[in-house]
Amino acid sequence: MTGDERPRETEASSDDQRPASGEDWREPAGRRAVADGGTEAAGDDGATLDPWGSATVADYRKLFEEFGIEEFDELLDEVPDPHYLMRRGVIFGHRDYRRVAEAMVNDEPFAALSGFMPTGDPHIGHKLVFDELIWHQRQGGDAYALIADLEANSARGMSWDEIDEHARDYLLSLLALGFDPEEGTLYRQSGDRDVQDLAFELGASANFSELENIYGFSGETSVSHMQSVVTQMADILYPQLDEPKPTVIPVGPDQDPHVRLARDLAARTRYFGVTKAYASFEADAGERELLAAAHAALADEAAERDEGGGGEPVRCEDAADWLEAEMTADEVRATIVAKLREAGKEPLRPRVRFLDRNATDEAFEALIDAVAGEKRVFDEHVDAFDLSRDEAEALAREVELDHGGYGFVAPSSIYHRFMTGLTGGKMSSSVPASHISLLDDPEDGYDKVKAATTGGRETAEKQRELGGRADECPVYELYAYLLAGDDDEFAKRVYDECVGGERLCGDCKEQAAELMREFLEDHQRKREEVEELLERADIELDSDRARR
Ligand code: TRP
Ligand code: SF4
Repeated sequence: MTGDERPRETEASSDDQRPASGEDWREPAGRRAVADGGTEAAGDDGATLDPWGSATVADYRKLFEEFGIEEFDELLDEVPDPHYLMRRGVIFGHRDYRRVAEAMVNDEPFAALSGFMPTGDPHIGHKLVFDELIWHQRQGGDAYALIADLEANSARGMSWDEIDEHARDYLLSLLALGFDPEEGTLYRQSGDRDVQDLAFELGASANFSELENIYGFSGETSVSHMQSVVTQMADILYPQLDEPKPTVIPVGPDQDPHVRLARDLAARTRYFGVTKAYASFEADAGERELLAAAHAALADEAAERDEGGGGEPVRCEDAADWLEAEMTADEVRATIVAKLREAGKEPLRPRVRFLDRNATDEAFEALIDAVAGEKRVFDEHVDAFDLSRDEAEALAREVELDHGGYGFVAPSSIYHRFMTGLTGGKMSSSVPASHISLLDDPEDGYDKVKAATTGGRETAEKQRELGGRADECPVYELYAYLLAGDDDEFAKRVYDECVGGERLCGDCKEQAAELMREFLEDHQRKREEVEELLERADIELDSDRARR
């Protein structure tokens, strides 16, 4: 199946590994019709994120440059005892993960949640996410795993019987790998009333145009599919219903549009926005930077002029003069200079500003009372002169929670690389030889690895001379992502021996194939052992649904 003709809503089989076609990073420019009559974002240079396409990432750098995903490596040192998927760069990107790492370090509450569409067998791509959830649970987080049955039904056309069967298989593998269902939470989207209620509330802050823009939905898209989107928004924020806390969503980068929308919705429900400000007028981020620069320069000068202190304040019009003298002319400078001129003699003073977004009148009044120190009250905002930004954030959340708001912390995410298919190209559920299911007969797993494409050279001589291409080798990936487990030295030895020409593909695959067989045997034995644990777990395994 090519990326152009992949099944979308219409076909039950699915490429839910979603690594794939090289064209899932499309410019949000052009849109084209897809099977369900919706459209999907499609542009010329292959850059967009499509949660229901079969995703592959041609160029991970684009994710940083165009989508603002941050590099995980820069944060690795701040993560206590990082998982091997983090150490090996399999987890390559994140949004806002620092606050989760900090909570871990400081022993504060945090959560991890991910969801699984039960469209086929769980396979080694899903194992990455299972492992990530389990690791966060062991680090002390509240861990949540959900079965995205509404999404599987509405976006993939799976029947409820199929969904039930696959859901059980996902959960057994999750538990077999070490998820503790007594400490953590398991649920299915359709079975959780709180999630559905939250979905409804969040849906009030999103409209059709937005879903059209983000997901390429059209007039033909079913309402149930849209409901599955707001349900995912609720999934992502669900761990914070009792208490706001940093929450990480471990997923593939194809899910980033969902993460961004959830972050937006979390912000939209907040009672107050907190920003830095310098004068009574509003300024955007670029303008604030110029104000900060002007203030810093002029405050120094004023302090020198007036050593007694407390004398002449810096005035807005002085800042306008300074910006015109010191900064090159551009649009931002022009707009902020105009605002400063208008404000004239008003003193320029740093402050934090609380903006009234969704606060009730009582909550806004309560906030005003609660602000300590010097403050100035306006119709729709309060300026506080003696609070730090952090203190202000904490106060805003406290007042919101006291008055019945959610107080959501923007959810964080981590993104893992997609695995290459064993046959080269994408790993796809619809091509059994390309992936290894966690349910595969161990002998089949062995055979698939033995038959895999490699990054080896045409002949043994050449391999000895030039070394293998471990970086392009699906077998090396198996070692790094799974078979080497926590043993970094082993993974590195395979790599070094390969690129150094000491390792030949035949032996290398034999070793990998044996490890795969052992892994599958072991995993499947553990699946049987946890059956009872799953029966006891608090999750409905059989849908009580009309069969269509
Ligand atoms: N959309 C996800 C997928 O395609 C499944 C999912 C549903 C999910 N809710 C979620 C993932 C919440 C992460 C967080 O597989
Ligand atoms: Fe891949 Fe192993 Fe061959 Fe290197 S030696 S190219 S890692 S199969």
